[in-house]
Amino acid sequence: MIKLDKENSLAKLNGANIHNYLDKIEARDQGFYKIVDNDVSEILDFAKSVEGKYEDIVVLGIGGSSLGTICLRQSLTHLHESIELHVLDNIDPQYMAQLSDVLDFEKTLFIVISKSGGTPETLSQYFYFREKCDNFVFITGPTGLLRETGEKEGIKMFEVPENVGGRFSVLTVVGLLPAALIGIDIKKLLEGAQEMRDKFLSEDLEENMCYQIAQMQHQHGGEGRNMTVMMPYSQRLIRFADWYRQLLAESIGKSKDVGLTPINALGVTDQHSQSQLYMDGPDDKFFIFIKVENLGPEVLIPGDEVYYLKGVSFNKLMHIEQKGTTDALTHNKKPNITLNVPEVNEHNLGALFMLFEGATAFLGEFYGINAFDQPGVELSKKFTKELLTRPA
Ligand code: PA5
Repeated sequence: MIKLDKENSLAKLNGANIHNYLDKIEARDQGFYKIVDNDVSEILDFAKSVEGKYEDIVVLGIGGSSLGTICLRQSLTHLHESIELHVLDNIDPQYMAQLSDVLDFEKTLFIVISKSGGTPETLSQYFYFREKCDNFVFITGPTGLLRETGEKEGIKMFEVPENVGGRFSVLTVVGLLPAALIGIDIKKLLEGAQEMRDKFLSEDLEENMCYQIAQMQHQHGGEGRNMTVMMPYSQRLIRFADWYRQLLAESIGKSKDVGLTPINALGVTDQHSQSQLYMDGPDDKFFIFIKVENLGPEVLIPGDEVYYLKGVSFNKLMHIEQKGTTDALTHNKKPNITLNVPEVNEHNLGALFMLFEGATAFLGEFYGINAFDQPGVELSKKFTKELLTRPA
């Protein structure tokens, strides 16, 4: 079970209004915490039907349609899986050409993911690869160009639930289908998410970690600490911080007065890159550390030249370096919390996704904004389309 150590948060928590905020979230009619009960048999049946057929899976998509899958791949797959999952969340022609060079298109399945079905980056990726390959599956909303194309071409399609926005969709078919295809146990992901969803809906402050985290971020934001640093001490969770960066930025950055800037860092790596700023720089940050208790087999650091490393395992070194960092921040009065995760597995990752989706939903209500739309992203999509249609 994931535990929250908030001893050094320097925040005062108050659960008197949880009930009201839960009502406000409910009134927004969002599905992100309901879809974890959905039946996943269609996804599992499809994964079974193509077992052994493909060597490479390529996801075409961007933003909320790709970041969750990138995280799932990084967190839950071994470095040398028999089936490769590539996620093409950019339109860099060099990368697309390089990928084309290494793929055997007979043995590659492309999954095109776009809720709107009209995102120019995703459509252009699709147009590029459909010239080379015939194996496509679409994950899209009920309307849009992708839906129309899929119907015309007889392409297998899955539907993104209408009331789940892109960045909240990792636990829908958007993340679950690619995950199932590379052998991730999606039922366990959902079980972990369900457990956290129950906490998210709890009116008991001690139980509701989502509410606690949101309240700390909100309080510190109000005191000028309007940046949230997420720093997992686990290579497997590096992309979780990327996923969260989008979730927080797109959900909460809504006006010149409302927004928290997400910063992602990796322990121990960024102790030698960011720590100086965090320790002695401006007091404008709130820190969320993720500690993974079991980082894998206990490997002792060989050699006996350095006495304090003798007999120490990499796990222990990682934990001690983390403690050194959080203790130093606390010493310098920099508010920080630590999420203790027993190990990186499906169950706990599902819980982590739900924890931060829930916290983001509460944050939106604390700020009195709609955390579920993205007018700024839509505006840049509109301007891009206008520029493309303007005469040279
Ligand atoms: O979170 C969001 O809504 C966005 O980041 C979208 O996921 C992103 O813009 C891609 O949109 P679509 O899935 O419609 O192609």
